[in-house]
Amino acid sequence: MATAEQLKSLIRSHFNEEEERFYTIALQLAAHEAKQGHSALAYDIRSIVDMERKKQRPVLLKFPKELQGLVLTEEPQIGRSSFVASKQFIERINQVVLEYRQQEKLKSHGLLHRRKILLIGPPGTGKTMTAKVLAHELRIPLHTIQVDRLVTKFMGETSAKLRQIFDMMQEEHGVYLFDEFDAIGGERSLDNDVGEMRRVLNAFLQFIEQDTSDSMIIAATNNPKLLDQALFRRFDDVLYYKKPDEVQRKQLIENVLGTFKASNFTWNAVLKESEGLSHAEIDHTCLDAIKNAILTDTKKVNEQAVLEAIRNRQNTHKGLNEE
Ligand SMILES: Nc1ncnc2c1ncn2[C@@H]1O[C@H](COP(=O)(O)OP(=O)(O)OP(=O)(O)O)[C@@H](O)[C@H]1O
Ligand SMILES: [Mg+2]
Repeated sequence: MATAEQLKSLIRSHFNEEEERFYTIALQLAAHEAKQGHSALAYDIRSIVDMERKKQRPVLLKFPKELQGLVLTEEPQIGRSSFVASKQFIERINQVVLEYRQQEKLKSHGLLHRRKILLIGPPGTGKTMTAKVLAHELRIPLHTIQVDRLVTKFMGETSAKLRQIFDMMQEEHGVYLFDEFDAIGGERSLDNDVGEMRRVLNAFLQFIEQDTSDSMIIAATNNPKLLDQALFRRFDDVLYYKKPDEVQRKQLIENVLGTFKASNFTWNAVLKESEGLSHAEIDHTCLDAIKNAILTDTKKVNEQAVLEAIRNRQNTHKGLNEE
């Protein structure tokens, strides 16, 4: 039988509408049953989960040929529960999801849901992840436009490509993520001689202003200084990302270590040493510690293992900086 903890988590995730977590726990249940020798039951649980997940997947669209390679389409499977941030920050994301889901209700009162969002913050703090979580929560595909690539590859044609992408938004519902956005969002005064960037930025401002699609438009950057003031007005919301504080570091480490965490794990040194690391760095560090535990057959990860992984990472950085 499933453990009491698993059953409680399963029920909780259902009521919290944490679908991805619900699936994960269901699959853990299947694994648990398989281990007990109940392979038919394990198989049944896995089939039910697979079937339901397939049903909920949106159909992926095919972009016109000239946009292929520029726009990456995926169906992320990351739910809100794995995203770590302050309570206020999570509430802002919840608000975006809520308004999107209830857009008809808002429309009937002449109001529009938030759907043009600017994400600003240091590397590895969850900007791209936010776009993935939103796509997953809203059950729509994520289309990522690598803006720096668009600009360098199509110098001279960037505005035309942008128009095609904005045209697609009308037809193909999705989250459109303009990643590395400062490649065009740079202040217009910092322009090059030919004025290409100024034209591209003006085009983007015009497209985003005129856009009335149902798609969600997200622009992400880790360089707020470069962003033109004119841009801020065009977005319905601006979210600022920060490196994780102590509470968030703890939550993140707990999440990533999961069942690998040793029962006598102590926190003080780990929380101190991990200060200043981004979410992504902490994520990698914990995964390093887990890999090590698997490879050395230690099975569990204690604070020493995490500290060692943090120091190894810091030493690699130091080595790189000194080169
Ligand atoms: N807030 C977060 N909560 C949980 N995990 C996170 C968070 N932020 C980052 N991560 C982890 O780090 C990985 C990389 O983060 P992400 O790509 O979202 O960073 P980013 O802010 O887009 O960075 P960049 O500016 O370099 O593009 C994620 O896939 C996830 O595993
Ligand atoms: Mg990113």
